[in-house]
Amino acid sequence: MKLFIDSADVSEVSALVKGGLGLIDGVTTNPSLIAQSGASIRERIAELCAIVDGPVSAEVTATDFEGMLKEGKALAAIAENVTVKVPLTEQGLRCCYALSREGVAVNVTLCFSPAQALLAAKAGACFVSPFVGRLDDIGHDGMLLIEEILDMYRAYDFATEVLVASVRHTGHVVAAARLGAHVATLPPKVFRALYKHPLTDRGLEAFLEDWRKTKQTIL
Ligand code: E4P
Repeated sequence: MKLFIDSADVSEVSALVKGGLGLIDGVTTNPSLIAQSGASIRERIAELCAIVDGPVSAEVTATDFEGMLKEGKALAAIAENVTVKVPLTEQGLRCCYALSREGVAVNVTLCFSPAQALLAAKAGACFVSPFVGRLDDIGHDGMLLIEEILDMYRAYDFATEVLVASVRHTGHVVAAARLGAHVATLPPKVFRALYKHPLTDRGLEAFLEDWRKTKQTIL
């Protein structure tokens, strides 16, 4: 499963890419993350594209087909690894279809149902982004949606990749991997939490304590 970072914070993404042993396969942003960063979208997407050797999702903000198409083309022109993100609306899917036919990679976002995901695949999306955390927040089962979409895509051999979004904790990441999701996009703190287990820390402390008693050095 590919791991993307869900952030528009250049220093965070850069630190994870450098320290991540090749574990980071891409980045996703959205208008809220760009707003939080305080940066200009074009500059920020260009910076992220230069740091990451993989797809960087940049989202349109127009809601009509023509507007989305223009914005999508402008975003795609920023760098070769831009993936244009469009919302899962009728106009967004029209835009996905048009951009995909021109060879632009499209991520259809804000997906909350298998029916929506079916349309995204048929519209030629490179990625579909179901939001598991936001579904969990309202008492639904986010991971069940991932399972349903994967079943459906496998039945028809759709090329669209399922990008698990709105990830809240490491449990979501493991569940996504067990289901065979193609990608999960992680807030930086969830990515860092993947390394962690209290028994690892405790075990290492005990090993080092015992080692100190031997007064040996390896080198
Ligand atoms: C990623 O593409 C999504 O925009 C993001 O994962 C949404 O996460 P949130 O529900 O935590 O805002």
